[in-house]
Amino acid sequence: MSAIIAPSILSANFGKLYEEIEMINNSEAGWFHVDVMDGVFVPNISFGFPLMKPLKEKATKTLDVHLMIVDPDRYIKTFAEAGAHVLTVHYEACTHLHRTLSEIKNQGMKAGVALNPHTPVSLLRDILPLCDLVCLMSVNPGFGGQKFIENTYNKIIELKAMILELGLNTLIEIDGGVALNNAQLLTEAGADVLVAGNTVFGSENPTKTISDLVELTK
Ligand code: DX5
Ligand code: ZN
Repeated sequence: MSAIIAPSILSANFGKLYEEIEMINNSEAGWFHVDVMDGVFVPNISFGFPLMKPLKEKATKTLDVHLMIVDPDRYIKTFAEAGAHVLTVHYEACTHLHRTLSEIKNQGMKAGVALNPHTPVSLLRDILPLCDLVCLMSVNPGFGGQKFIENTYNKIIELKAMILELGLNTLIEIDGGVALNNAQLLTEAGADVLVAGNTVFGSENPTKTISDLVELTK
């Protein structure tokens, strides 16, 4: 089975948003990855609910929303209404993570937890049964097009072992610096979902790049 490829809308051309959405709809991509940044948790501001509207209307695949915001509990219900299927919050942004994940599930979404590169996966042990997805950040969050952090492989292997030991089927998502030269290794290490921004939207032929990523992870 190949990995799920999740093109990151952050790197799309917003001047032709509907075409970009159609391109992903018609490609071998599995999900849309949607990066919401508040300028506080990360040193960048991206977009919020106005972008969810065209996505909810036009996108035909899973909307995987990655919240890089402080105190995400304030917006869980609104993101459910806005069409998010997977809602991922940062471990570092949640004081009561158990409550936050429970509420995401109560609102009918899959619950994800993202870890910054410095946060050890061992911290997830007690909360893992509540995680449908763990997003390992392989760059410091905030921007597309950054260099992949190699220690991510160790984190995937450790997390995969923990998931298997606990008998769970939590998905492992890798976010940041995913490229044609590391997609296969990431999948072999245990990744299930690969987010790709610059690699897809910065390429000559995004549809083909998505197919190439799928092929590499088979
Ligand atoms: C980074 C975002 C990523 C970003 C990935 O903070 O969470 O999803 O869009 O972009 P690339 O694939 O270009 O590193
Ligand atoms: Zn992301």
